[in-house]
Amino acid sequence: MSLRSAAWFASDDLPGFLHRASLRAMGLSRAAMSGRPIVGIANSWSELVSCNAHFRGLADAVRRGVLQAGGLPLEFPTIALGENLMKPTAMLYRNLMAIDVEESLRSYPFDAVVLLGGCDKTIPAQLMGAASANVPAVMVPGGPAEPAVFQGRRLGVGTDLWRYTDRLRAGQMSETEFAELEQAAMPGVGHCTEMGTASTMAVLAEALGVALPGSAAIPAGDARRYAAAESAGARAVTLAGSGPRPRQVITRASLLNAATVLAAIGGSTNAIVHLLALARRSGVPFSLDDLDAAAARTPLLVNVRPAGEHLFEDFFRAGGVPALLRELRPLLDTDALTVDGRTLDEWLSVPVTPDRRVIGTLDEPYGDPGGLAVLRGNLAPDGAVIKASAASRRLLRHRGPALVFDGVADLAGRIDDPALPVTAESVLVLRNAGPVGGPGMPEWGQLPIPAKLLREGVTDMVRVSDARMSGTAYGTVVLHVAPESAVGGPLAAVRDGDLIELDVPGRRLHLCVPDDEVRRRLAESPARTAPNPSGWTRLYTSHVLQADQGCDFAFHEPETDAGTTPLPS
Ligand code: FES
Ligand code: MG
Repeated sequence: MSLRSAAWFASDDLPGFLHRASLRAMGLSRAAMSGRPIVGIANSWSELVSCNAHFRGLADAVRRGVLQAGGLPLEFPTIALGENLMKPTAMLYRNLMAIDVEESLRSYPFDAVVLLGGCDKTIPAQLMGAASANVPAVMVPGGPAEPAVFQGRRLGVGTDLWRYTDRLRAGQMSETEFAELEQAAMPGVGHCTEMGTASTMAVLAEALGVALPGSAAIPAGDARRYAAAESAGARAVTLAGSGPRPRQVITRASLLNAATVLAAIGGSTNAIVHLLALARRSGVPFSLDDLDAAAARTPLLVNVRPAGEHLFEDFFRAGGVPALLRELRPLLDTDALTVDGRTLDEWLSVPVTPDRRVIGTLDEPYGDPGGLAVLRGNLAPDGAVIKASAASRRLLRHRGPALVFDGVADLAGRIDDPALPVTAESVLVLRNAGPVGGPGMPEWGQLPIPAKLLREGVTDMVRVSDARMSGTAYGTVVLHVAPESAVGGPLAAVRDGDLIELDVPGRRLHLCVPDDEVRRRLAESPARTAPNPSGWTRLYTSHVLQADQGCDFAFHEPETDAGTTPLPS
């Protein structure tokens, strides 16, 4: 077995001496290091990210597994991205974390790595980094938190909180009740409890074959989560010697499988952006059209909020990802390789008995195919997406006058104005909320229903933006419009009163304004005052690609070289 770390430690020259002495400085004996595969533990633990706050214990479990299998575990910190506290949006930093992980793996003497990720952006960032560095990697998702119970009901952290917020704004909930809700809302560490982005990305990591079978959905506080982390540590030691490497696992076949699974779980639209970025990092041709095609043939099989009624921990108890993949088998490429060392076909032959209240079958699904759809038209030449499974059926074909907000400040300032010229038929448009305009494409796409309509009982309207929305959100919400308005996309040309046509079955998003008029307005529209950011935000906005390409940086060219060369000492 030839190890990458041998380039650092095997030689008897001065650099070898220095590298060994550096580990001895931390109390390691020569026996503890010599010839043993070095397994990094990339830990996104942080006290600012409650979703990842249990990762110290999880890292200890990984360490146990690495030692049992004869490796040397070396834990290192990475930036941690937390949805709730990071502003303007954790998405602005996904690529920063991907670079952090990639360059740590590239520059240090790792033979393999175990990635500890949980909160929304952390799993995709780690996978992107691992794909680029192409050091063998196993993902250990952190697991969902214990759900809140409020007024006798178990809550999804996002989905249900949005509903209660609307009830408060509509005057149907008292401030006292809302304060009680705050106390109960998040009873412990772990990621959001429904099929939000974190749950979605954990499931996709397992479907892609980079997390061990059965590991994605185990709750954060469940002892089995720690046992799975231990197994991942042990597995990484084997991967260190013989692979497979990330780009042997993340292939077109596994990405198409992930697209199918995304549709079957009613997963987060954010995953679309992440899968596109991961594909690009892995040098795999994979586009919005692939995602639309997978969604168009895959029904909703998982009955978890926001598309269904249960929580993510129920999905685990119902059989989790292995049970789901078995049901989806006719739609999957089961020759895909996994870090477990077996193909999907091999590990799916282990029998499981799913709970049909949570995991349906292709014959008896929980929802029709087409739960996610890619839209195109003169308003979104490079595509837009909608989570049709979380939309109102009656609005999937809709034509209404635009009411345009020029940015999130404009939105916040006017949306609850009693004089707002809006009806339930209006199409709310938000622009300057894309990758460059946001910046970082914040989750502003689920524009709130104007208070005056809420009071009339309106609960959904068509909304269109170049933003994203939380995976826990719902509504008839068209997102990820590309190109975005800040780079001159047609969204910038929409004016109040213009008719907008949404036709989800026809995959169409149309602005009923003649093309030459759209061009004229775009040419005339005053250039946006450049915010002229400095530092990271300038780097980000100068290089970020549009949503249809995954919002990665243009300078992260798709990799073609399947190997990873050890650095000279
Ligand atoms: Fe971290 Fe939802 S806030 S997963
Ligand atoms: Mg989220």
